[in-house]
Amino acid sequence: MSSSTYKTFNSNDKTSFALLRVLGVGSSMRKESFGTETLRIVLGKVKENGAETRLLNLFETPLPIYSSSINSDNRLIRQVSDLVNWADAFILSTPDYHGSMSGSLKNFLDYFWSEFAGKTFGYICSSHEKGLTVMDQIRTAIRQCYGWSLPYGLSINSGIDFDDHRKIVNKQLVGRINSFARDLVVYGKLINTQFRNDLNSKVENSFAYHYRK
Ligand SMILES: Cc1cc2nc3c(=O)[nH]c(=O)nc-3n(C[C@H](O)[C@H](O)[C@H](O)COP(=O)(O)O)c2cc1C
Repeated sequence: MSSSTYKTFNSNDKTSFALLRVLGVGSSMRKESFGTETLRIVLGKVKENGAETRLLNLFETPLPIYSSSINSDNRLIRQVSDLVNWADAFILSTPDYHGSMSGSLKNFLDYFWSEFAGKTFGYICSSHEKGLTVMDQIRTAIRQCYGWSLPYGLSINSGIDFDDHRKIVNKQLVGRINSFARDLVVYGKLINTQFRNDLNSKVENSFAYHYRK
């Protein structure tokens, strides 16, 4: 979304001691999605690590396909845009669709770019094949918007990691969820604080320099 249409980074709207705000984005087009369910669990852990959380489920809040001529006064677009501007860090959850992210997630990303700068991203992929190509492709899109990605993600396989009652039975996955939630909050805060400091400083050889108003 062009910066003239939507508010981009406002360097003065947050104090350094405020809680990190983490937005989880679920993008499976299934009501009973394991990926979105895992996202909810991870957001709970993120909260335990001292962050504020919100969830955007694109299955329930479907954005129209992005187009340069779209009417940005659309209620859903405004709602989603407010959430994106609220967030300091993101967890993007997607099913593996043909080795790539879901169309709904790519469409969500297409609405924004400068809003992602200086923010930290973590990825969850629901796949039968680990979803490594999926996460690599999301990482590429986020890098293009000057967002920072955690070096590892969460891969879930519903047939192995969950029992018949949809409870996680893979202990390794539980451990990985715990470190993922912890690392997202710790590194998200470090990167966000530094980015805000750079926005407010006179330093000109930082990438934040390009985002000053
Ligand atoms: C269009 C489409 C393409 C898919 N492609 C793959 C694929 O390439 N590899 C794979 O492991 N699963 C693939 N799947 C299966 C889903 O990734 C898998 O069922 C996933 O666990 C669903 O996640 P969810 O429970 O969050 O919806 C595909 C499913 C759909 C609908």
